[in-house]
Amino acid sequence: MRVAVIGTGYVGLVSAVCLAHMGHMVVGVDNDTEKLAQLQRGQSPIYEPGLQEDLTLAIGTGRLQFHGDLEAAVGGSAVIFIAVGTPPLPSGASDTRAVAAVATAVGAVLAGDDQPRLVVNKSTVPIGTGDRVQDLVAQGAAAAGAPPPPVTVVSNPEFLREGQALWDSYNPDRIVLGSNDPAALLTMEQLYAPLIKRRCRGCDSSHPGPIPLIKTDLASAEMIKYAANAFLATKVSFINELAQLCDRLGADITLVADGIGLDQRIGRAFLDAGIGWGGSCLPKDVSALLHTASSRGLHPRLMEAVTAVNGDQRRLVVRKLQRVLPVLQGCTIGLLGLTFKPNTDDLREAPALDIATELIRLGAMVKGFDPYWSRQDHWPKALGSIQCCSSAMALAKGCHALVVVTEWPEFKLLDWTELGQEMVQRLVVDGRNCLDGAALTAAGFHWQGMGRNPP
Ligand SMILES: NC(=O)c1ccc[n+]([C@@H]2O[C@H](COP(=O)([O-])OP(=O)(O)OC[C@H]3O[C@@H](n4cnc5c(N)ncnc54)[C@H](O)[C@@H]3O)[C@@H](O)[C@H]2O)c1
Repeated sequence: MRVAVIGTGYVGLVSAVCLAHMGHMVVGVDNDTEKLAQLQRGQSPIYEPGLQEDLTLAIGTGRLQFHGDLEAAVGGSAVIFIAVGTPPLPSGASDTRAVAAVATAVGAVLAGDDQPRLVVNKSTVPIGTGDRVQDLVAQGAAAAGAPPPPVTVVSNPEFLREGQALWDSYNPDRIVLGSNDPAALLTMEQLYAPLIKRRCRGCDSSHPGPIPLIKTDLASAEMIKYAANAFLATKVSFINELAQLCDRLGADITLVADGIGLDQRIGRAFLDAGIGWGGSCLPKDVSALLHTASSRGLHPRLMEAVTAVNGDQRRLVVRKLQRVLPVLQGCTIGLLGLTFKPNTDDLREAPALDIATELIRLGAMVKGFDPYWSRQDHWPKALGSIQCCSSAMALAKGCHALVVVTEWPEFKLLDWTELGQEMVQRLVVDGRNCLDGAALTAAGFHWQGMGRNPP
């Protein structure tokens, strides 16, 4: 099939590559000229494991192209994906202006067109946006003096995890398709057929059985995305609240998580205590759901508590430092890992930013080493207040404490005896419970985990 993907960020680019490997002819469109120029040179503007390789291969097959001309891309496509950003507004609501602009522009391009097409919302959008997109396409066509084009809107929410986005796109736990038109759902099923049968590059063909397909109405599919993220956030805040209790009671939260996680009704995933959730999705999606519920006269108490617990976890890291360094003024604190999770370059809503801001407010000097950003030739503006270090060793030099903010795998291999020799004081707060506390204690460190007591 001929497919257009509008918005080539984390979701759009990965989806475009995946669709091309499924055998479709794909055009990626973006209005960020710098990003577009990079893509046209065959370079990925974002970091995701394996993405550059699969992008190069997809372009090489001749099935993936990029350009800025929405008209040409939309006019030649039977399926038009919208994958633009929906960042949070100050009110907490989702900013859907980019989605609306694309829907209107698609309507204008399709004015007078009589070929049936699908417009597929991959962006995470508030419940009801699918209907609005349908109206906006009609309005776009009306402004050009034409009747509504034969377009059907489908909701196809994305569940990929940054850091393993390609694997997740090739091997999703499920594909959710929402539309009020059964024929549109059938076309989408045909589009995804190679993936559903696990017969495309990147698919785990040893997995028994097809990928589950969930077909719903438009609103339910939109709701599934918010429900999934709200539930994941709830699991993390739940375990973090228990971790605070473990800190006080001398229990070990990782053992507690293992103990409850083996219960199939609970599951072990997303039960790792730590600094809490961040990134471009969970915070904004939970706050958008809160906003939607409040605007319908509901009082979403659980979601409010989930959000409040998460904020506490970031402050807790600073309190843990203050147990040993009551006056942080004049101290140097090193942050290990700055992206919101490992194996990504994404700094949106990264806990490191809040933690650094609080430490600086208390008069500390903050240095940082990030396995991705410290190896680039520029230090991003978002990290401006954090002094860049080129290695963990350079970070440790002159530090009164180190804080593990992101659990990059390479931190497990650090030589803590050598790091300790560079530090003013051997203090580590393991904000992700990824280090061996006993080994650190043996190396002379004062080690604090999250909900784990020093051995
Ligand atoms: N990042 C994730 O892990 C993830 C996972 C699931 C769902 N989502 C959802 O997917 C959507 C996209 O997220 P993302 O992280 O890829 O965002 P992003 O900011 O990385 O990418 C959005 C892209 O859209 C482009 N864009 C904006 N307006 C445009 C327009 N009018 N025309 C063409 N291009 C335009 C931007 O230039 C940008 O490249 C969001 O709704 C997000 O909530 C994201």
